[in-house]
Amino acid sequence: MIQVPEFSITRIEAYIKKGQYSKIIVLCDENTSRLCMEQLVKELPMPIERITLLPGEHSKNLENAAYIWDQLLELDADRKAVLINLGGGMITDIGGFCASSYKRGIAFINLPTTLLGMVDAAIGGKTSINIRHYKNQVGLFAFPEAVFIDPVFLGTLPKRELIAGYAEILKYGLIQETKVSQQEEDKYSDQKDLLWEYIKYEEPVNIPDWIPIIKTCVDLKEAVVAADPKEKGLRKILNYGHTIGHAIESFSLDIDEVPLLHGESIAVGMIAEAYLSYKKTGLSKEALNDISAVIIRIFGKYIFENPGYDDLIHYMHMDKKNQADEIRFVLLEKIGKALYDVPCTIKEIKESLDYYLTL
Ligand SMILES: NC(=O)c1ccc[n+]([C@@H]2O[C@H](COP(=O)([O-])OP(=O)(O)OC[C@H]3O[C@@H](n4cnc5c(N)ncnc54)[C@H](O)[C@@H]3O)[C@@H](O)[C@H]2O)c1
Repeated sequence: MIQVPEFSITRIEAYIKKGQYSKIIVLCDENTSRLCMEQLVKELPMPIERITLLPGEHSKNLENAAYIWDQLLELDADRKAVLINLGGGMITDIGGFCASSYKRGIAFINLPTTLLGMVDAAIGGKTSINIRHYKNQVGLFAFPEAVFIDPVFLGTLPKRELIAGYAEILKYGLIQETKVSQQEEDKYSDQKDLLWEYIKYEEPVNIPDWIPIIKTCVDLKEAVVAADPKEKGLRKILNYGHTIGHAIESFSLDIDEVPLLHGESIAVGMIAEAYLSYKKTGLSKEALNDISAVIIRIFGKYIFENPGYDDLIHYMHMDKKNQADEIRFVLLEKIGKALYDVPCTIKEIKESLDYYLTL
């Protein structure tokens, strides 16, 4: 069940007391152990045990899942224990997966410490691990018992990670106006009220108060997830930019010495998918130019070679959201309004990558 997040770490003490857990185990990576643990521990009413992973996407794998289950056993975690996932999406994804399968499910709490975790990965109930270089191939829908979002943790987050998280915020801006229910009226008659219209001018490193932006994103994700928790339809709009973006991410993990981050890959995907939207679903040329210019200004450009196209298409076929030979996309009718399940041909996809490379 979806839990409305609390917007301060100080609320966690009362929550833990109420839960009467037998044991608190904190899952972290080496960075969040060093930079975020102290802040958490001082709010907790009882001592903790900790399980620490190496940082980075490579850690979201089966070996580490087995290691976490093993450590939970070693620490005598029973069914009344709680796992607190202290970290970015890597930690909340693998931690949620392990907690919800250990002894058929123990409670877990997400405490996101990256911007991407706060607006996306820690909420919505998707948990997973990667297999080989394929993203999120094994996982469960499982909701945390609680989520505590506190921008205090962003203070130590490297600038590159902060900017990468901004990609998901831009994504919300691009899909925000999509109707959650058939009965719903158009919400934003005044275009100036749209999230996109103010976030597009911001420099992520200069934003003084994150709470209003994070809340807008969380509210939007929650409304969409509540309407379609298992991604049968509407929830797919949250994958805008992700079909090409995930392929770029896997591709980069495979070949680059310093691979692209998740958000950086999604940024590439959002431009290519805006091009597909221009070709197929009526997105205007001005909107395509606006989306491309904003994303390139914030993220710069990822240079990959044309021969890589076939690898990218292969990764798109591996994406669990695709059936047989068809590659289906979330595309935009206009900024703010998304459509899902729009099939595109390989030729069109290659053309969208060509467009990206000409920018
Ligand atoms: N479940 C979902 O719905 C969902 C949604 C989006 C993304 N994801 C997943 O999230 C993952 C990416 O998440 P991410 O970008 O948060 O990456 P991440 O968890 O790997 O964290 C990024 C880096 O920041 C460090 N870090 C985290 N918090 C810090 C802090 N406060 N100070 C200093 N360093 C800190 C980490 O150690 C790591 O090196 C991907 O695996 C992606 O598939 C899941």
